[in-house]
Amino acid sequence: MTANWTPSTWRDLPVQQVPFYPSADALGDVEAQLRTSPPLVFAGEARNLKSALAGVAAGDAFLLQGGDCAESFAEFHPDNIRDTFKVLLQMAVVLTFGASLPVVKVGRMAGQFAKPRSAPTETQGDVELPSYRGDIINGIDFDEPSRIPDPKRILRAYHQAASTLNLLRAFAQGGFADLQRVSSWNNDFVADSPQGHRYSEMADRIQESLSFMAACGLTPERVPQMRETEFYTSHEALLLNYEESMTRVDSTTGDWYDTSAHMLWIGDRTRQPDHAHVEFLRGVKNPIGMKCGPSLDPEDLIRLIDILNPANEAGRLTLIVRMGADKVEEGLPPLIRTVEREGRNVVWSSDPMHGNTIKASSGYKTRPFERVLAEVKGFFAVHRAEGTHAGGVHFEMTGRDVTECIGGAQAISDDDLSNRYHTHCDPRLNASQALELAFLIAEQLREERGEMVRAAAAQ
Ligand code: PEP
Ligand code: CO
Repeated sequence: MTANWTPSTWRDLPVQQVPFYPSADALGDVEAQLRTSPPLVFAGEARNLKSALAGVAAGDAFLLQGGDCAESFAEFHPDNIRDTFKVLLQMAVVLTFGASLPVVKVGRMAGQFAKPRSAPTETQGDVELPSYRGDIINGIDFDEPSRIPDPKRILRAYHQAASTLNLLRAFAQGGFADLQRVSSWNNDFVADSPQGHRYSEMADRIQESLSFMAACGLTPERVPQMRETEFYTSHEALLLNYEESMTRVDSTTGDWYDTSAHMLWIGDRTRQPDHAHVEFLRGVKNPIGMKCGPSLDPEDLIRLIDILNPANEAGRLTLIVRMGADKVEEGLPPLIRTVEREGRNVVWSSDPMHGNTIKASSGYKTRPFERVLAEVKGFFAVHRAEGTHAGGVHFEMTGRDVTECIGGAQAISDDDLSNRYHTHCDPRLNASQALELAFLIAEQLREERGEMVRAAAAQ
């Protein structure tokens, strides 16, 4: 057990990004209901993810973490869950087949509701209202009643997370993820794009390999890994009232686990070492992530690692680097060198989204796809130069055919943004852009592995 820690010790510390609930009693009632509600995940599953991530830290696997920026009540639909899941499966298969590396799949799903904001209020014309903070907290409509935090939303988010997770489990284990169905994961609107064609060709080669394996007696009936997949969930642990209420003692180990998701992360705005979010996450035994933006000083990083992973346990901590395409090659090496010098065991992952957000001339918040790709390339280049493993990517996407990020093979332009701009918060990659990203990562991983083979041969 962690010293001087309980699920509520965070309440004694300063905290950033908290909503103001008008009624403490109403919030307390919701917390009490959650404390007696079923956990969403089991501690043993979180431990399995941690050991899979230890494999990533050792350079033997790759972490694919993606999904919505902000899940919403309005976009809650089985087809959306299915389409996002399909794209993640496609990306995983592109990486596994293209780079011959096992892929650990983690969705930003089933709980990714609360959002940190750069300003506490939003002004339109001469009206100023509290900022929208995600559907678990308040409503997106720009009127006063919508923007007042309502604790009943927490229960609705919990139930939505539960049924999302239920469907994801069914998809992962119930036959949908069977490798023999690899061709069917192409979403209709992607099938006819250059990415879709590239994917179909690869799927044909996989089918050929599967026929060969079947002839050798290796079939999905006999080899469960061919018909099922492990799929994990994650979100930013931002609304600590929710996270605390979902935290339980695991009966097999006596340790505390936050059962709202397998993996939780700390955002770039809430990683102050002596504040509430770091305090809460240091005590739960789940694998955790921490966003590392350009303002993170290498010595502060070590201090945070000391707090969050004092035992230097492999797989416990994933550093999610989100510098921006123009900053990663300068900002990342000092962090890697300090972590290496101090002998800390971490997974390095790249979030190429949050440092590359711009305002388009149309007024929409967007991300140029070429900058997303450039940050991933920069991240890999730095790791190749430092001799460390580029362990994963963390991205915002949807399986739907949205027009939120400009560029990509569909050449989405500023003028196209208004066509299908549905996000509740940040612009997401659509299915075609996500697939394009996967092909780029597979190439980068092949290069990294080629470099490792050359380095080993030269020794
Ligand atoms: C996010 O992941 O949606 C997010 C807000 O990221 P960051 O904390 O890196 O800004
Ligand atoms: Co975001």
